[in-house]
Amino acid sequence: MTKIAILGSGRVARVLAGGFRDAGHEVVVGSRTPDGPAAAGWAAAGVRVTGLPEAAGLGEVAVNALPGAVSAGVLGGLAAELSGKVLVDVANAVEPDAAGFARALRHPGGSLAEELQRALPGTRVVKTLNTVHDSLMARPGSLGTPPTAFVSGNDADAKAIVAGLLADLGWPAGWIIDLGGVESARVPEAFVLMVGDLVGALGPVPFALSVAR
Ligand SMILES: NC(=O)c1ccc[n+]([C@@H]2O[C@H](COP(=O)([O-])OP(=O)(O)OC[C@H]3O[C@@H](n4cnc5c(N)ncnc54)[C@H](OP(=O)(O)O)[C@@H]3O)[C@@H](O)[C@H]2O)c1
Repeated sequence: MTKIAILGSGRVARVLAGGFRDAGHEVVVGSRTPDGPAAAGWAAAGVRVTGLPEAAGLGEVAVNALPGAVSAGVLGGLAAELSGKVLVDVANAVEPDAAGFARALRHPGGSLAEELQRALPGTRVVKTLNTVHDSLMARPGSLGTPPTAFVSGNDADAKAIVAGLLADLGWPAGWIIDLGGVESARVPEAFVLMVGDLVGALGPVPFALSVAR
């Protein structure tokens, strides 16, 4: 059992909180408004909601489920709470177009994951799942084609912890690809540039990036 703090309380947070809770982990969600209208729903789901600093302090592993545009600023302010921990970064940091899809990356030539690792030198950042629709993150076996979970980070032990958590969400080891250091998150982060066109081509169906081999 791992104490997992999910920072942000949106769509990804709901899926991951449920998946980790069902796998037997202790989950706390960090929100700007822990006593807001959604609190009862979280309580009914058996998940505690606190402020962001408290959640970050409680978790042994934290998940960045915040908008990419605010991730570095918000998490940089939680450096003390996140120190010594693993930060699982699932965020995409983009400049949106009028329809809300990515028209550009906020960190061209780099990545949000690298930005977070620089802002949080005492935290081991691992990028994963940002190429997977939220509805598939804890149900990867529901697609006709096995999706891929890419993993990028500088610390081998942290990546092993994240691979274990992915297994708890239903990801077989063969569907997980360790790409290397944190800078290897650049290409998976760029996948978001294709999402708008894919939705245009496929319609609003859940999808994820997959490497056929
Ligand atoms: N949805 C997907 O299919 C998907 C797939 C892959 C990656 N991602 C990435 O995962 C991240 C989360 O996605 P999502 O779909 O769950 O987004 P979302 O539904 O918008 O949830 C984001 C949450 O972050 C918190 N938040 C929003 N603005 C904030 C701010 N200025 N400061 C602090 N907290 C703020 C909010 O929680 P509170 O109001 O409780 O504070 C909000 O519920 C994003 O970076 C996204 O790009 C999403």
